[in-house]
Amino acid sequence: MEQHKRYQYLEAMGIQTWQPRQAPPRPAAGQAPVMEAAASGSPRGTDSAIAAMDWSELEATIKSCTRCALHTQRTQAVPGVGHRQADWLIIGEAPGADEDKQGEPFVGRAGKLLDQMLLAIGLKREEVYITNIVKCRPPGNRDPKPEEAAACENYLRRQVNLIQPKIILAVGRIAAHNLLKTDQRVGALRGKRFEYADTGIPVVITYHPAYLLRSPGEKRKAWQDLLLARRVMDDSH
Ligand code: URA
Repeated sequence: MEQHKRYQYLEAMGIQTWQPRQAPPRPAAGQAPVMEAAASGSPRGTDSAIAAMDWSELEATIKSCTRCALHTQRTQAVPGVGHRQADWLIIGEAPGADEDKQGEPFVGRAGKLLDQMLLAIGLKREEVYITNIVKCRPPGNRDPKPEEAAACENYLRRQVNLIQPKIILAVGRIAAHNLLKTDQRVGALRGKRFEYADTGIPVVITYHPAYLLRSPGEKRKAWQDLLLARRVMDDSH
């Protein structure tokens, strides 16, 4: 990516690329600006049926799912959006109010920042696939309960199998915990390469864009995570 474009994207993410008083030199061409930005009855719906579904069956099953109590309060379930043979699979937590209304993940403020984060590493939203650990909105935007994540787990597993992504970028604590089956903090999980279940598909963890909106000082770390994800992706083929 051209250097000046990268700066535009970093600035769109809200990452300052210069210091007002002590301006460090910008990196030479070809050198990544890391230092400047540094500082997830009927046979229909059973687990074995889900594992064999095609995209249209899977989406229809998710949209009519009643496996957990979240279905009673949703406007609609939100299966996911994007390229079905994407190299990049982005996994968040659960739909919020905007997503519940529109039926698409990451369309609110956090979604706009996610789009900027993706653009910063040269990815358009339509080139990746975006989904959540849980496909229905938890009321009041509370954390999804373990049984709600468990009810959705096979939907996600089937999505991963259909897409066969080259990398999974997990944004936020809920995605990280459910994908990696850990309860470590995101701060301890970022900066490393993990694998999804028994697939060998690499997983990189970063902060949730909603957290970055509340804590913009952490965007520099998120930028490093994106660069790591890009490197892991480039190494995977
Ligand atoms: N936050 C998420 O984790 N997912 C969405 O789809 C929207 C906000």
